[in-house]
Amino acid sequence: MVVGVGLLVNAVLVAIPIGGSVGALMGIDAHRAATGQKPLFTGGTDEDSGGIGNGGSNNGGSETVPHDNGISRISKCDISYGIVPPSKTEQYTLNPNPWGVKAGSHDGELCMDVLMWNNATYPTNTAPEFSVTWQYDQGPITAPVHAYSNIRVDDVLPKKMSDVQELYVDLHWTYGVGKNKTAETTDVDALTEINLSTNVAIDMFLDSDKDKAENGTNAKFEVMVWFWMSSVAAQPHGWGKPGKNVTVEGQEFTLFQGENDQGTMVLSWVATPWMTDATEKFTGDIYPLIDELYSMSGDDYPSKDDYLGSLSFGTEAYDVKDHVTFWVPKYEISIKT
Ligand SMILES: *[C@@H]1O[C@H](CO)[C@@H](O)[C@H](O)[C@H]1NC(C)=O
Ligand SMILES: *[C@@H]1O[C@H](CO)[C@@H](O)[C@H](O)[C@H]1NC(C)=O
Ligand SMILES: *[C@@H]1O[C@H](CO)[C@@H](O)[C@H](O)[C@H]1NC(C)=O
Ligand SMILES: *[C@@H]1O[C@H](CO)[C@@H](O)[C@H](O)[C@H]1NC(C)=O
Ligand SMILES: *[C@@H]1O[C@H](CO)[C@@H](O)[C@H](O)[C@H]1NC(C)=O
Repeated sequence: MVVGVGLLVNAVLVAIPIGGSVGALMGIDAHRAATGQKPLFTGGTDEDSGGIGNGGSNNGGSETVPHDNGISRISKCDISYGIVPPSKTEQYTLNPNPWGVKAGSHDGELCMDVLMWNNATYPTNTAPEFSVTWQYDQGPITAPVHAYSNIRVDDVLPKKMSDVQELYVDLHWTYGVGKNKTAETTDVDALTEINLSTNVAIDMFLDSDKDKAENGTNAKFEVMVWFWMSSVAAQPHGWGKPGKNVTVEGQEFTLFQGENDQGTMVLSWVATPWMTDATEKFTGDIYPLIDELYSMSGDDYPSKDDYLGSLSFGTEAYDVKDHVTFWVPKYEISIKT
C-alpha cells in the first residue's frame, strides 16, 4: 500500500524559474492547473490559497538592503516568492514555495528566513545562510506535500553534461524541533517522535532539449541526491525496489527510480542508511552519481549529451505534529566546466 501511494503522490520537486516573465510563470501555472497539479505560484496575497493568474505581485526580485557591512534578515511566510539577495559573486534565488496552503489556516504554516550580507561580497560560490520553519498537518493522500522550500543557483545553467567536469557542493544543514529554532545537530529520534515527514535533497532537471531541461514540467529526467528521508511517508519514487549502491566522497547512496505522474523519470540517490542517519554535511563532487547513470542502458537514463537545466537544494515539507526548523548554515555550489 505504502509503495503504491508513494508512486502515486510523491511530488516533483519543481525548481521554479523565477527569472521568467510573469507571463511564463502564469503559463506554468496554467499548464499545471490543466494537468491537475497544484499551481507553483500561489499568487498575490497571503489569504490566497492558490490559483492561476494572480502571480503578478509575487515573483520576487532583488532585495533592497542598507549600504553597510551588516546582515539583513528577510522573512517570507506562506508565499511563493523568489528572494534574490544582492550578490557580487554567484546569484542565488530562494523560495519558500508552499502550495495550496491558506495562511492562518489550520493546515499549518511555513516561513523562510534568509540572512543577506548588505555588502553583497560573499565568499566565492557561497550562498546566504537560510532557514525554513514549518508545521503542517497531514495532507490528503493524493497531495501530501505542502512545500518545496529551496535555494537555486542562477545564471550558470543550462549546461551540456559533457561540458561539466564537476558538480562540487559543500553543504551543512540540520533539522530541529521548534519554531524558528536552529539546531546544532539533527536529533533523528526527537524528530521521529513528532512524526516528521520530510526529505532534504538536491534536485536537478535534465533533458536533451536545452529549454525543456530548464522547465521542470517538461524535462525528461529529474535526478536527485537525498541527504535524508525522515520517514517512509517521504519516500522516493521506486521505493521498495532499491537499485545499485554507489559511494562518493565516503558517503554511500542507493538509487531508486520511477516515473512521476507527469512522465518524468525520477532517479533518486538516497544516502544510506536510509532514515536513521541524516547526512548533515557533505563536501565534494556529486557528478559521479550522474556519471553512473550514463553507464546504464536504455531510455530510462540520461546521457552525456543531455543538458542540466536547473539545480536546487531544499526540503520537501509533508507533515509534522510540532513546529520544525530546517537550517542551512552553509551552502556552496560550483559547477565546473
Ligand atoms: C514550461 O512548460 C510548460 C508546459 O509545456 C509551459 O506551459 C510553460 O510555459 C513552460 N515554462 C517556461 C518558463 O518556459
Ligand atoms: C561584508 O559583510 C559580512 C557580513 O556582515 C562581513 O562578514 C564581511 O567581513 C564584510 N566584508 C567586507 C569586505 O567588509
Ligand atoms: C526568527 O527569529 C528572528 C530573531 O531571532 C526574527 O527576527 C525572525 O523574524 C524570526 N522568523 C520567523 C519566521 O519567525
Ligand atoms: C507517530 O509517532 C509515534 C511515536 O514515535 C508512533 O508511535 C506513531 O506510530 C507515529 N504515527 C505515525 C502515523 O507514523
Ligand atoms: C545498498 O545499501 C542498502 C542500505 O545500506 C542495503 O540495504 C543494500 O543491501 C545495499 N545493496 C547492495 C546491492 O549492496
